[in-house]
Amino acid sequence: MQHLISMRDLDSVHINALIERAGLIESGREKPDLSSKVMGALFFEPSTRTQLSFDTAMKRLGGKVITISGTKGTSVEKGETLADTVKIINQYADIIVVRHYNEGAARYISEQVDIPVVNAGDGANQHPTQSMLDLYSIQKTQGTLHNLTIALVGDLKYGRTVHSLVYALSAYNPTFYFVSPEALAMPDYILEDLDGLGMNYTVRRSLDDIVPELDIMYVTRIQQERFADPEEYEKVKNAYIIRAAMLGGVKENFKILHPLPRVNEIDTDVDGLSCAYYFQQAKNGVFMRQAILSTLLQQ
Ligand code: CP
Repeated sequence: MQHLISMRDLDSVHINALIERAGLIESGREKPDLSSKVMGALFFEPSTRTQLSFDTAMKRLGGKVITISGTKGTSVEKGETLADTVKIINQYADIIVVRHYNEGAARYISEQVDIPVVNAGDGANQHPTQSMLDLYSIQKTQGTLHNLTIALVGDLKYGRTVHSLVYALSAYNPTFYFVSPEALAMPDYILEDLDGLGMNYTVRRSLDDIVPELDIMYVTRIQQERFADPEEYEKVKNAYIIRAAMLGGVKENFKILHPLPRVNEIDTDVDGLSCAYYFQQAKNGVFMRQAILSTLLQQ
């Protein structure tokens, strides 16, 4: 692995190695040493979990972090290009972690620098480190990644976490339900890729009847910030609200995941149930990001 830009860059050998390494780091059996390394964290778009869990991961490995959050106070305000900005970070840091509002920005940055680049979310495109922590969470809760029945619920059009996740799971023979309003359906280019891979998926508008079949329900926020027309957001913003009363008869191993942040799509009355796994999922992000940083820095 030179960079981590898209889940399509990782095969099942890479995925399994990262999951195993995250487990070894979580259990304390492996302690990579990044004390001589500096991570450049460039968050041009807002973030809580991704930015702070990368920061925590690097510091727990002994490394240092330099950060840009937004562009305020940087020379981007004076007109410096993205290419020049990252060529400068290249002089200071050993690895770049970047979140950017433009699709393809992380790939573009990887072509400007000679240090590893990690995509921490590029527009509505990909969020591969989220998918890796999702896979780690699924492995921990299900004991396997293979042959699972998974509903992806909510904003499948703009939700970059679900775009990455379907590719991440493609090697493990999942059965997918894609549950969304028509206006927020999984993009055609992804469905075409899944058809090419011979994947088993069903497109639905409702969760009715399928909840007892599921191993994983992966819920996503309707991404208000990506709507050009606020009226279109108003039409779909309450399309799915998961409540405890909807979860009768679920399988014993059933878990609800969500990349977070949530708005109202999972009612807080679900939080106390044993199937609510989203806060542990966020914690798993630190172990997975420790595994990703140490692997890319060859430690
Ligand atoms: N899941 C996720 O990417 O959260 P943040 O936007 O808070 O980083």
